Amino acid sequence: MQKVGFIGLGLMGGPMAANVVRAGLPLTVYNRTADKAEPLKKLGAAVAASPKEVAQNSETIITMLSDATAVETVLKGDDGVLAGAAAGLVLIDMSTVAPDQSQAIGAMLAEHDIKMLDAPVGGSTGPATEGTLSIVVGGDEAVFEAQKELLGVMGKDVFYLGPQGSGATMKMAFNLIVAAQMMSLAEAMLLAIKGGVSARVAGEILAGRNFSSGLIRRKVQNIVNADYTPAFPLKHMQKDLGLMVRTGDRLGVTLPATSATHQIFTAAKTRGHEDEDFAAVFSLLAEMAGLE
Ligand SMILES: NC(=O)c1ccc[n+]([C@@H]2O[C@H](COP(=O)([O-])OP(=O)(O)OC[C@H]3O[C@@H](n4cnc5c(N)ncnc54)[C@H](OP(=O)(O)O)[C@@H]3O)[C@@H](O)[C@H]2O)c1
Repeated sequence: MQKVGFIGLGLMGGPMAANVVRAGLPLTVYNRTADKAEPLKKLGAAVAASPKEVAQNSETIITMLSDATAVETVLKGDDGVLAGAAAGLVLIDMSTVAPDQSQAIGAMLAEHDIKMLDAPVGGSTGPATEGTLSIVVGGDEAVFEAQKELLGVMGKDVFYLGPQGSGATMKMAFNLIVAAQMMSLAEAMLLAIKGGVSARVAGEILAGRNFSSGLIRRKVQNIVNADYTPAFPLKHMQKDLGLMVRTGDRLGVTLPATSATHQIFTAAKTRGHEDEDFAAVFSLLAEMAGLE
């Protein structure tokens, strides 16, 4: 049976790794903050002391980390994946990184005979727990075919898109819509509330079938209940918006709405909302509008 490693047991990686172990695959996990590995240990996963030890025990390693810097950190160094990897290892990076960052990591791994797929995800902690993420994959097609079953344990819709970086490109595209919806929902709620409509009624109307989406229906609840417990931390959406703008720059694509949204998310992060859910962008706008 395929020996799998999983590095990065945060809000997303934790439940995704749990689905791998529940599917009956032998799993070795590592997380920088060790106590986040405890639930996986209870499910039967082996806990490694370093990314190197994960590599020594795995044929395929999945990374689900904050950003490209974190991915490089777990790969390099005396305790990194490269120090323990055998030639032929496959690395599936499911973190959200820019396409050019993913390609640079893939090129570095190729020098060590490690094959890489970029396989970022759509859907938050709910789909991660249920195993119903959307997964968009770039890399060698034969490698994808060999890993398809494993990806299917974590995602319901798994799309192969083309060469390394294609998954990351598509992730930029659909995350752009998520950010835009959140931003317009925050603005709409604020306009209604400051104009005298109660938050509950405004939320009910905006969550109604003529204006809504699954995302809006969920995020209305965050605003109405002023509950910003993170499902998708604001700091990660701020990072992702920066990656979208960077990708637009590289491709010569103007992204005016995304650029403005990035600025607002940067302010929200700076003003102390970084570890809250990204719906907390509403709090910043409310503050700017002088709303208590
Ligand atoms: N949450 C969502 O709804 C969602 C949806 C789609 C995609 N994503 C993307 O998925 C990725 C993970 O998101 P998340 O929500 O799971 O984030 P998270 O809860 O903040 O987890 C981040 C993970 O990265 C690790 N990490 C960060 N810097 C590191 C470093 N320098 N060295 C080693 N490990 C490091 C963290 O370790 P520690 O535990 O030690 O901090 C943790 O395991 C991000 O790229 C995010 O943009 C998130």
